[in-house]
Amino acid sequence: MTTKQSISLTSAEFIDNPYPFYDEMRSMGPLYKLDSFPYPGWYVTGYEEVKKVLLDTRFKNRIPLPLTSKKYERLKEVQNHMMLFKNELDHRRLRGLASAAFVPSKLKHIRYYIEETAHDLLNQAEQKNKMDVVSDYAFPLASLVIAKMIGVPVVERPLFREWSASLIRTIDFTRTRHILASGDETIGVLLDYFQRLINKKKRAPKDDLISMFVKQDSELSEKELLATCILLMIAGHETTVNLISNTVLVLLNHPVQYKALQENPALIETAIEEVLRYESPTQMTARVASEDIKMGESIVQKGDHVYVLLGAANRDPEKFAKADVFDMTRKPNPHLAFGHGVHFCIGASLARMEAQIAIQILLQRMPGLRLSDSKPRWRKLIGFRSLSELPVILRS
Ligand code: HEM
Repeated sequence: MTTKQSISLTSAEFIDNPYPFYDEMRSMGPLYKLDSFPYPGWYVTGYEEVKKVLLDTRFKNRIPLPLTSKKYERLKEVQNHMMLFKNELDHRRLRGLASAAFVPSKLKHIRYYIEETAHDLLNQAEQKNKMDVVSDYAFPLASLVIAKMIGVPVVERPLFREWSASLIRTIDFTRTRHILASGDETIGVLLDYFQRLINKKKRAPKDDLISMFVKQDSELSEKELLATCILLMIAGHETTVNLISNTVLVLLNHPVQYKALQENPALIETAIEEVLRYESPTQMTARVASEDIKMGESIVQKGDHVYVLLGAANRDPEKFAKADVFDMTRKPNPHLAFGHGVHFCIGASLARMEAQIAIQILLQRMPGLRLSDSKPRWRKLIGFRSLSELPVILRS
């Protein structure tokens, strides 16, 4: 077991570029124990160890706040009904109901909508010859797609950007009392919003996820239904926005590969997989040990928190040759960007399809695309690799 207290996970340097910090942590061993600030627990940076933790169901998913405290009740109540924070039977039941909507045969229908929306967004941006990839392209695309699938009216979709930003911060290490209080407020608004929408779908069901859930209401409690809607809406776009924006940034920073992808669009699949590895949208997840568990030389004790650094595992040189090099032809590429084991992301196929289409259409239509600002600005989040904006010029 190794302990070192000096690595600051909340510093501006870490937010800018976490990878040297991960290397330093990994050099202390693939499991790294921090005893104090900011979050005491085990930090897992080795690829094999990350996989082991995610496969071992003795490491449980738990909501990030203590259920016993009387604070942030609405936030905790909703999180506590999300499949992401459930284990065993409840998890299997909730996941089984939702994942039926994300199987490849269902996704075929949404493909055309993604293409059409990407073209519409570029038509609008083209007139100004510039855009912010995050707010003018990736966010509207990903949120329109998940809103359509869930059954959220298109006009209400812009509200979700703020709601989502507020909630993502409540599960990140950077959370403060203020962030939690405002997340609790947001949850109150979302509960009202989805309750009204669910009532509407009960009266007049349509071909969407909420209507599908409403028909299965004997298997889902009202609270689970609300929590599932909120989880899918947030998880369904937040990280996909990051994947699309991170891909544009990485490609523009690697002009030779950018050109090669333009000349050979068939490389899009491996290119997106490599961005998932190289700039993983979700950098971290967490578990709690339900009993004493031996991991290599160390004993993780019952109740210990385990922070699983997906972004570090995906740069582990023991697993990936030239791990810090972006190589869009990398194959095989067994990255862990969508997690592993029973909580493996149910939206992985959707996210991959959206990113592949979004990037292909962007490259086809804007061959002269270039960055208008050389320094990327990352949101102050530790668990997510997320650009706050990415201004580009469309045609040189
Ligand atoms: C779970 C990443 C897109 C819905 C996860 C997990 C990761 C992840 C790492 C596992 C968390 C854990 O084990 O603790 C991503 C990334 C995405 C993405 C990087 C985009 C690039 C999506 C989309 C949806 C979605 C589009 C919805 C349609 C979910 C849900 C879970 C999940 C519901 C919980 C699954 C469970 O607990 O069984 N995602 N996700 N995600 N994701 Fe995604």
